[in-house]
Amino acid sequence: MDSWEWNKIIGAVLGTLIVVLVVKFSADAIFENQAPAKPGYIVQGVPEEKTASAPQAAPAEEPLPDFGTVLPAADVAAGKDISTRCEQCHDLSKGGPNKIGPNLWGVVGRARATHPGFDYSSAMAASHDPWTYDTLFRFLKSPQGMVTGTKMSFAGLSSEQDRLNLLAYLRTQSDSPLPIPPPKK
Ligand code: HEC
Repeated sequence: MDSWEWNKIIGAVLGTLIVVLVVKFSADAIFENQAPAKPGYIVQGVPEEKTASAPQAAPAEEPLPDFGTVLPAADVAAGKDISTRCEQCHDLSKGGPNKIGPNLWGVVGRARATHPGFDYSSAMAASHDPWTYDTLFRFLKSPQGMVTGTKMSFAGLSSEQDRLNLLAYLRTQSDSPLPIPPPKK
């Protein structure tokens, strides 16, 4: 074969390659290659792969204490100390102003999101049920967890005893403290 012939063969091979590449590129462009979110088949006995975005199982809700037993035993003075953490946003005194958050005088037993002159989030204003020991205990553990979308940007008090001490103090900051329920036997 002379070199002309070789040139033709090489040319043909290159030409074919280019055609193949062009077809592949345009096919990729047309049919976007997406990995399926879930494998299309499930093999029995093979545990499904956990993806990072898989929702975590919701943590079991903390059981509520028997307030009639634990509140009388709570440490009111320790609760007053904890309340200083609230004071960067809340005034606790009678007739005191609204700050970043509403005035909290008498909040235990007060109808939710009703303090005059405070602009509540729609999440908070979605209910006007009175605050109870139960609901405050859960709200103060995780404000966002209980009132999703609240503008109270406070992470919450994870310690159950801290919350009980605080509630025991907060209830005293009222003209008519919410009665402590009788202990359940
Ligand atoms: C970083 C500021 C901030 C801190 C700290 C904070 N709060 Fe709040 N709190 C707010 C805001 C803002 C609101 C109004 C929430 C809304 O409208 O969604 C609020 C609302 C509340 C409500 C509802 C009041 C009502 O009238 O219904 C209670 C109860 C409450 N806070 C208690 C506390 C307690 C107790 C603490 C301390 C452990 C605390 N907050 C700490 C900002 C704060």
